[in-house]
Amino acid sequence: MQHELLGPGFAVEIKGVDLSQAQSDETVRRMRDLWLEHKVAVFRNQALEDEDLIRFAEYFGPTYVYVRDQFNDRQRPVITIISNIEEDGRKLGDLGDGEVHWHTDQAYSKDGSFGTILYGVEIPEDGGATCYGDLAQAYAAMPKDLQDRIADKSVTYSIARAAETQKLGLPESQRKAKPPLSHSLVRIHPYIERKALYLSPNHALHVDGMTAEESDALLQEIEAYATRPEAVYCHQWRKGDLVIHDNTTTIHRRDPFPESQRRLLRRTGFLLPEDARERF
Ligand SMILES: [Fe+2]
Repeated sequence: MQHELLGPGFAVEIKGVDLSQAQSDETVRRMRDLWLEHKVAVFRNQALEDEDLIRFAEYFGPTYVYVRDQFNDRQRPVITIISNIEEDGRKLGDLGDGEVHWHTDQAYSKDGSFGTILYGVEIPEDGGATCYGDLAQAYAAMPKDLQDRIADKSVTYSIARAAETQKLGLPESQRKAKPPLSHSLVRIHPYIERKALYLSPNHALHVDGMTAEESDALLQEIEAYATRPEAVYCHQWRKGDLVIHDNTTTIHRRDPFPESQRRLLRRTGFLLPEDARERF
C-alpha cells in the first residue's frame, strides 16, 4: 500500500488496494489510520459491487439507512443512488445536476454520520466535482478571539432546510422522523483528539441563543473560514473512484454539471461505533 497527498495538507490517494476483495486486519488498520489522519481518502480504478461498498464501510463503523429513502437501493437500503439520470420519465437517483451547497452529512441527526463513501459509476465530462474543506485547519486558522467567541456555541440543524434549498422531496413522515436539533460548533475528534469545527451551512437554522441577525453574521464569518480555498480539495471524478470522507472534521459541496451529461454515484455511510459516540 502506498499513499500520496492530494490536497492542501489533507486528502490522500491510497494505492495498491483492491477493494473488491476482503482486506486483512493489518490493511484495514493502515487504511483507517491514513484516512483519519488525512480526513479524505481516494481509491482509484476500483470495480465494486454494493456488497464490496458495504464491507468497506463496516470496517469503520455501523452502516445506516438514509432517512430520505426515495433513492435507496431496494435490495440494500444502506446504499443510496446519487444521479441526474431519468429512465422512462423516472428519476434513478437523488440530487439532480445542480450545485449542492456546503454541508456535513446527517448534521440534522443526533449521531451525525462518521464517514461517507461515494463510488463513481458514471461520470460526466464536465463539472460535478466534489470539494472538501478541512475543518481542523479552518479552526486552527481562526483568530483567537473568534475561537473564544464560538467556544461554547451550538447550532441548530434541520433536514428540512437543505430539502428546501436543494428543492428535494421531503414527505411529512421524513420531516417528523428528523426534528431539528443542535450540535456544538467546536468538537474534538473521538479517535485522534484533534479539535475542529463542526458545521453544516446547508442544514443550519441558527446559532443557539442569538438573534437572527447575530446568528447569520456569525455563521457567515465561520463559513468563510471553513471554505477558504487554501484548505479545500476538489475531487475531479473518474469512473471507478471511491472516496471516503470524515464528516466529523470536513465539510463538502458539489459543483453543478451539464443536464445533458450522465452522472451516477453509489453512496453509503456509517456511524461512529457506539463506544466513540459519547466522546464526540
Ligand atoms: Fe453530502
